[in-house]
Amino acid sequence: MRMSERPEARIQRHLPTADRPAASARSGGISVTCVRLLFIFLSVSLSRVAGKEQAKFPDGDNFDTKLSADMAHTVFVTGGAGYIGSHCIVSLLEAGYEVVAIDNFANSVSERGADGLSRAPALDRVQQITGKELTFVQCDLLDIDALRNIFKLKKIDSVIHFAAIKAVGESMEQPFLYYRNNMMGAINLLEVMKENGCYNLVFSSSCTVYGSPEFLPINEDHPTGKVTNVYGRTKYFIEEMLKDVAVAEKQWNIIMLRYFNPVGAHPSGSIGEDPTKPFTNLMPYIAQVAIGSKPKLTIFGTDYNTEDGTGVRDYIHIMDLASGHVAALKKLQEEHLRMKIYNLGTGEGVSVLRLLKTFEKVTGTKVSYETLERRVGDIDAIYAKCELAEKELGWKSQYNLEQMCEDFWRWQTMNPDGYRSNKTITNGKINGEGKHIATAATNGTNGVH
Ligand SMILES: NC(=O)c1ccc[n+]([C@@H]2O[C@H](COP(=O)([O-])OP(=O)(O)OC[C@H]3O[C@@H](n4cnc5c(N)ncnc54)[C@H](O)[C@@H]3O)[C@@H](O)[C@H]2O)c1
Repeated sequence: MRMSERPEARIQRHLPTADRPAASARSGGISVTCVRLLFIFLSVSLSRVAGKEQAKFPDGDNFDTKLSADMAHTVFVTGGAGYIGSHCIVSLLEAGYEVVAIDNFANSVSERGADGLSRAPALDRVQQITGKELTFVQCDLLDIDALRNIFKLKKIDSVIHFAAIKAVGESMEQPFLYYRNNMMGAINLLEVMKENGCYNLVFSSSCTVYGSPEFLPINEDHPTGKVTNVYGRTKYFIEEMLKDVAVAEKQWNIIMLRYFNPVGAHPSGSIGEDPTKPFTNLMPYIAQVAIGSKPKLTIFGTDYNTEDGTGVRDYIHIMDLASGHVAALKKLQEEHLRMKIYNLGTGEGVSVLRLLKTFEKVTGTKVSYETLERRVGDIDAIYAKCELAEKELGWKSQYNLEQMCEDFWRWQTMNPDGYRSNKTITNGKINGEGKHIATAATNGTNGVH
């Protein structure tokens, strides 16, 4: 059944598991219809307002985008079942926002619900953590009609655009796939936002747009564009497009957040990173070695111009990143910026070896590793200057490296098979079966699919 024909058929009100109605009730049409009617009611009863202008743009009028405190604010989250999206939704729900999330499960786990529809287990767990509901629709951003239908059903106030594919190696092998998904996805989204008079956008960008740093710490004025991989170029091109759009059309109110290296997991251990595509991110890899799922870590390059010769990056706890999005959204509600860019990092550079040693210390594990030649295109060090986000968004990272490792390890050990886990682990034993994590996990997939 195509989304454009029966959009309501795929809408899921994700309820906390304990509160979920019986399967027969859920598969019936009544609750879905009620949600639909509620959406239509909201869409006609809410109206958009505007904010103040910054001097940068030649044709800027004075807008008033400030929404009154008692008005429910609905945020449309693309890529909501993914790593950053799911954690950000926790913070959004806790901050009182209503959330409509979409995902096509290109890189996130789905499961079939009793009603036959795909569910995002990550978002079920988000609701368990927060005790709040959200709306999820399985939708591909490339399907513009489906997107239009969702915007028709619910008045959307702001959008956070996470959805993208992000594997650097794959992007070099299949550039067209990356350009189509990331670029066309963004263009479709902007078009549908504009059609619906929704101009508040937070875009997930990356420090990769800076290329090789000309100075450190890197601030938002550092030149961009010398990007050596296709994934990074899609981020750079979308940034450039958003800059053009904001200049051409004064209604747009856009914040681009350049993330440094998000790691860790929600402190509950219930949600974390569980990609369905092969990955090379450092912390998940370290954890996989620690849990016995991979034999050893490969460190590429020990002759960089850094404290111990290994590459230096700016790791940021995923919940700090999440709170950065809430701060950005608040800013968009308070002011009409047209377009602003902020780094989200800690400002501290950490080497691969330091991360490894901290992980071992915090988790009490041993992580075997080998060293190889540096890879073409890898840079010595990159870390952020984050003063602008602190000054203008009132946001600053709170979590330290130990907490990043601790929280990631909690997620990994509580969920050895990621969201497919039905096992829990206590004191290094799975379900009291007497198997140590490393033994059991050797046979598991641990989120690598
Ligand atoms: N994780 C990082 O290290 C990092 C760093 C900088 C920037 N980013 C950016 O942050 C965003 C989120 O990253 P993440 O780590 O959560 O990745 P993720 O892969 O976990 O989440 C992205 C989600 O988007 C979905 N998606 C992809 N294409 C889609 C489409 N066409 N329609 C609908 N859904 C689609 C995927 O299924 C996935 O669930 C991405 O834009 C990424 O480029 C990530």
